[in-house]
Amino acid sequence: MSEKIAVVGAGLIGRAWAIVFARAGFDVAIWDRDAAATGAARGFIAERLPELRAAGLLDDAPEAVLARITPAGTLAACLAGAVHVQENGPERVEAKRALFAELDALAPPGMVLASSTSGIPASAFTEGLRGRGRCLVAHPVNPPYLVPVVELCPAPWTEEAVVARTRALMQRAGQVPATVKREVAGFVLNRLQIALVAEAFRLVADGVVSPEDLDATVKHGLGLRWSFMGPFETIDLNAPGGVEDYMARYGALYAQVQAEMTPCDMTPELVGDVHAARRAVLPMTEHAARQAWRDRRLMGVLAQKKGER
Ligand SMILES: NC(=O)c1ccc[n+]([C@@H]2O[C@H](COP(=O)([O-])OP(=O)(O)OC[C@H]3O[C@@H](n4cnc5c(N)ncnc54)[C@H](O)[C@@H]3O)[C@@H](O)[C@H]2O)c1
Repeated sequence: MSEKIAVVGAGLIGRAWAIVFARAGFDVAIWDRDAAATGAARGFIAERLPELRAAGLLDDAPEAVLARITPAGTLAACLAGAVHVQENGPERVEAKRALFAELDALAPPGMVLASSTSGIPASAFTEGLRGRGRCLVAHPVNPPYLVPVVELCPAPWTEEAVVARTRALMQRAGQVPATVKREVAGFVLNRLQIALVAEAFRLVADGVVSPEDLDATVKHGLGLRWSFMGPFETIDLNAPGGVEDYMARYGALYAQVQAEMTPCDMTPELVGDVHAARRAVLPMTEHAARQAWRDRRLMGVLAQKKGER
């Protein structure tokens, strides 16, 4: 019998995690405090699976994957026999605190309790728990069945073995774990995104580049490599002698540009300008269609990258 994963909270992210784990062969129980959300999750998943299959991102038949997902009537039934709990409740610290207290009381020792929180450190909602050593953040990117990286962020008291077990589990689920060794705001992925987006706003605010050309610079420039290499690998391959050689050549430029970088004040005017520039190329009436296009493109990129680590 396969191992069971408990998915708690069946909104956007909970239902996406159910797909990830069931696709990899795990049994999944899913529960939401709102019974209607649990039901809606099943419909959503049933719609997504054939698309994933068509894109080459689902090895088994959609019906077989769907059959591994069981809606649970109670939280206790959801947790029964699970090896890992993936929590996807609301992004509010009091809500996480209450839910983790409930989970810690119900889950037998040894069951890992992971939160999908986008930005609340695990220490903020697990400190007082008896089982706090088995709690951590496992932060996905939406939707995790298309974007495999998952940031594992332990609290200071999370046991090392729990991080190791979660890393191994996520790998078996087809995800790519990255461990964030200590608690920092935004974890790693969002800090990187914020560095780039803030500088993008700054360059537009300073009149250096238009929003359209800024996007072109990333999608036809930096981003081309970044879908299959990280920034360190990029610079390593950009100089014949590797990272040290690269820094010997460009280190002074890095120092100069960093010294010029200051936090960007994203005023309503600046945000409004960028919003207006986007609307000029994509009217709001076409926004949803473009989101669907993005997901199809992402599936194509993923299918190409299949098996890459
Ligand atoms: N949406 C994203 O892009 C994204 C990305 C990464 C991480 N996350 C994180 O995932 C978590 C869930 O976000 P979402 O976007 O799925 O939100 P959502 O609003 O779609 O879903 C939250 C669900 O939690 C349920 N819920 C409320 N109280 C509960 C309780 N006590 N027990 C069980 N379920 C409860 C709600 O009924 C709802 O279905 C958040 O912590 C969020 O920060 C979201």
